[in-house]
Amino acid sequence: MRETEAQGQESVGEPLDRVDGRLKVTGGAKYAAEFPVPRVAHAVLVTSTIASGRVVAMDATAAERAPGVLKVLTPFNAPRLPGAPAVRGGTMRVPTLLQDPMVRYNGQPIGLVVAETFEQAIAATDLVRVRYATERPVLDMDRAPRNPPETVRPMRGERVTHRGDYARGLADAAVRVDQTYTTPLENHNPMEVHSTLALWEGDALTLYESTQGISNVRSSVARTFGVPPEKVRVVSHFTGGGFGSKGGPWSHEALAAMAAREVGRPVKLVLTRRQMFGPVGGRARTVQRVTMGATASGVLTATRHASTSNTSMLEDWLEPAVTPTLMLYACPNLETQYDLVRLNVGSPTFMRAPGETTGTFALESAMDELAVALRMDPVALRLANYAERDPESGRPWSSKGLRACYALAGERFGWSRRNPEPRATRDGRWLVGWGMATATYPARRNPASALARLLPDGRALVRAGTQEIGCGTYTVMTQIAADALGLPPDRVRFELGDTTMPENPASTGSVTAASTGTAVHEVATQLRSRLVKLAIADPASPLHGAAEGDVRVTDGRLTLASDGGSGESYATLLARQGGQPVEVTVSSRAGAEAQQYSMHSFGTVFAEVRVDEELGEIRVSRVVTAHDVGRVLNAKTASSQIIGGVVWGIGQALLEETLVDPHTGRYVNADLAEYHVPVNADVGAIDVHFVHEADAHVNPIGVKGAGEIGITGVGAAIANAVHHATGVRVRDLPITLDKIIRR
Ligand code: MOS
Repeated sequence: MRETEAQGQESVGEPLDRVDGRLKVTGGAKYAAEFPVPRVAHAVLVTSTIASGRVVAMDATAAERAPGVLKVLTPFNAPRLPGAPAVRGGTMRVPTLLQDPMVRYNGQPIGLVVAETFEQAIAATDLVRVRYATERPVLDMDRAPRNPPETVRPMRGERVTHRGDYARGLADAAVRVDQTYTTPLENHNPMEVHSTLALWEGDALTLYESTQGISNVRSSVARTFGVPPEKVRVVSHFTGGGFGSKGGPWSHEALAAMAAREVGRPVKLVLTRRQMFGPVGGRARTVQRVTMGATASGVLTATRHASTSNTSMLEDWLEPAVTPTLMLYACPNLETQYDLVRLNVGSPTFMRAPGETTGTFALESAMDELAVALRMDPVALRLANYAERDPESGRPWSSKGLRACYALAGERFGWSRRNPEPRATRDGRWLVGWGMATATYPARRNPASALARLLPDGRALVRAGTQEIGCGTYTVMTQIAADALGLPPDRVRFELGDTTMPENPASTGSVTAASTGTAVHEVATQLRSRLVKLAIADPASPLHGAAEGDVRVTDGRLTLASDGGSGESYATLLARQGGQPVEVTVSSRAGAEAQQYSMHSFGTVFAEVRVDEELGEIRVSRVVTAHDVGRVLNAKTASSQIIGGVVWGIGQALLEETLVDPHTGRYVNADLAEYHVPVNADVGAIDVHFVHEADAHVNPIGVKGAGEIGITGVGAAIANAVHHATGVRVRDLPITLDKIIRR
């Protein structure tokens, strides 16, 4: 954005209100299930009531006779799909598409009822009689056998890593900590349940879809049906949260398309809340052993982090919990290891900073335990082990403002007034505790593309096939394009969410601002340059013959810096050029910088908790954060991202846990009454700060990403605060009151 900085009208960074805000609050924003499609039929999943075994027979006679029912699909009559992924296809997503009668978790889709109305379809699901051959499910992670090591494949890095001499480092330590931390199964529970509206026109399929990745859905569904990707169009203008569960397709997309083809009508398939537990992923359970050794002055000599997590019987999905341990502190001797255990539960997947959320809970709890053992301030311990470069790769950071984060958040929180003694601070019946932790998340960038078109009236249209999952993508892309074009944001229209648009990555891994944002910046910059060149070459333009570098564009007007003259507007220029729009398309991807630097967002979380001494009730009264996420594109939406992350972290620390019946594998708390996410009453004051470090290396717009980092470190900061308040160290999330008062 260097080009426009001198023009004094920057929108980037400003707390611009969401450009889609009015649509959202007036109900004008259309979600997948809301697109009006004539003759739509409704499909409802039939799900298994056993966790392991086989469907021997399904009697759909009564269901088929029920009012409004058009079709009942079962493993015995469903059409074969040429490209349905095979079970245990490595780390590939394996949906259950009625291609075989096997049951691998309780709640697995085993059938589909299609009817005239949703109510008729859901009523008829109860009439489908299922006979099973039941096997004993594997549900006890602590007793189940571990996967063969060759099936344990992290998405990045190795199953086992070594740095330096861990055994020697541990022997040299003056103080050691060796503890096991556990995090439970969780489910994403976005407000909007997963929904698909499938529509065939000949052999062309359109899916209106609630997704974080329209291109992922297109390629996967095309492969499943054995049709070219061009035949599948995926549309998603708004997604009501995903948190990882909508990163790629599950079973319901292809099943909706299958049903639509079978009944010869458009089909809408909306999951029930209960069906959000199992069929669309969740967070794996982790058992993490962390061993750390340090000198008497707190310098780390050894770290070992071994994480065992569960996967399903369908896939070998690995929760990458050791990733923060590999890069966060300058420890010379280090070992990490992953193990997997297959259970009869739904497949785990990406959820809210996968790896960093679970991993920082273990690592940052262990660091706090080490600080206690050393009688050292927790911030001082972290500063004593500050990594000046990436300790794993040896590369320099593209930027790292973490020291400034500790200083800023610590100061705002009042950390220097902390009495290190546990149980020392009281407020009536409440024990008050202060804890902190470090936050981190990788800054990634994926290939992205965009189109920019200047319209004859001088407004711009910018398109990129990305997604709006609630982060503010419509808004920040509008701001980026506006600045690069020299237009006010209200004269730029940004459109997204359609595979007919230039291709973009999924809105996962906090990549959207850096990836799509760079493509939008580049396409708008090129369009501006194209228009300036048109003016310069046009004898009728007041800018005729000027040097490109002397032309300024402000408020849609091209002027010369030298004469301060009136110049002309984009609209005037275009009118003279024949009144046709001017359009540019670009594709952009990371360059060599990705190999030269280690790129991460960083931050810190300080939490205050109040614990009722008698009852063990825990309230998070105050959280102060400071993050270095590179350039902040919009002060308001970025703060909202971090606030949302902290709220997720409160959920992780105190509330969220998916309970599976140990005998039947049934999801016990599969609704929002029993699966607790934080509500307003659970959330105290959240004070969000950014450290504005310019990152000159990460990408042309200096953005590292603020999507997921907000949750990282929060679980540990709260657990550390609970320890400080009560003297009780809870290493098993969530921290429920029974774990406080049982000792
Ligand atoms: Mo995020 S868990 O990568 O959608």
